[in-house]
Amino acid sequence: MIHALLLSTLLASAGALRPRTVIVTGATGKTGQAVVRELLKDDQTTIRCFVRNETKAKEVLPEHPRVRIGPVDLEDPENVEQRTLDGDADAVVWCATGLASDGSTLIDQISLPTLAKALPKVSRDAPPNCVMLSSAAVTRPGWSSRKQKKFERSYDIPIVRLNPAGILGKKLNAEKKLARATPAFCVVRPVGLNDDWPRGRPVFSQGDVAVGRSNREDVAAVLVAALDAADARGKTFEMATLKGYPPPSSYDDAFGALAYTPSRRATAATYALVQQLLPGVEQDPTRLEMGRRYEEVDSGAVDRERGAAATDREKAVAAGAAEGMKS
Ligand SMILES: *[C@@H]1O[C@H](CO)[C@@H](O)[C@H](O)[C@H]1NC(C)=O
Repeated sequence: MIHALLLSTLLASAGALRPRTVIVTGATGKTGQAVVRELLKDDQTTIRCFVRNETKAKEVLPEHPRVRIGPVDLEDPENVEQRTLDGDADAVVWCATGLASDGSTLIDQISLPTLAKALPKVSRDAPPNCVMLSSAAVTRPGWSSRKQKKFERSYDIPIVRLNPAGILGKKLNAEKKLARATPAFCVVRPVGLNDDWPRGRPVFSQGDVAVGRSNREDVAAVLVAALDAADARGKTFEMATLKGYPPPSSYDDAFGALAYTPSRRATAATYALVQQLLPGVEQDPTRLEMGRRYEEVDSGAVDRERGAAATDREKAVAAGAAEGMKS
């Protein structure tokens, strides 16, 4: 029996050494580009970038024999299925997002389940072959009023207040569709992606109470690490970057400690902890306006009253974000 266990362990770790092809959707986006660069570090990995605009892709993606660029219409599941089956494809890192031309459905909802089903099946104890970039806060608009009150400092925050184009609920729906399409999934939900936030230690949590900042390169590293981690399979978690700590040499222990379904008690403890890890000294996300930094709360440049309606300034920022999702 020990031999069978040893063999499966060896095979699992050998998986990463085998030549493989990974599809990246949304590869021209900022996080998508970081994922492509991260995947390139493994010289056994070929990357197929599914893009809408090949001209743009050639401008922003590295010119490399292991980076292939092809046009795909993510609004068209048949095209997605066909393009997936047309070439090698072992796994996907899904970084695409945006509203379809109907103006209400996310392309994730339309094509992510199709792509997941078009990939080769993997064995039960293998790592996930479908890793999705989602977002923290996707469940929060649906919280009960009791839960909103209990976790107020995770609920009364700009993205939940404004929820441009109802994106949070749509992302959550896409996550659910993915989990129904394949057991070999992993969903990574970063908190506030911020280009000014330095690399650091990605810290995972569950229960969707996390607030704070994530560095894009850190998010990319976690998405790619999940592809090789059997312990990341079937799991959904939030991440934030803790500034001042180096990235770890391996995420395996952190993946292993994650639950398939976090308990209520664990979520309450997580909430207490993540609030202490917030940037700045005031550490009160309810005082933030959308598009502002925690440091601006500290300096007094922003001081929103808890529970107040969205300001005109944040409505404008949110409207811009919703508009951006259409292109
Ligand atoms: C594709 O990208 C190029 C270069 O960024 C840009 O000039 C062009 O307008 C884009 N085409 C479409 C259809 O968006």
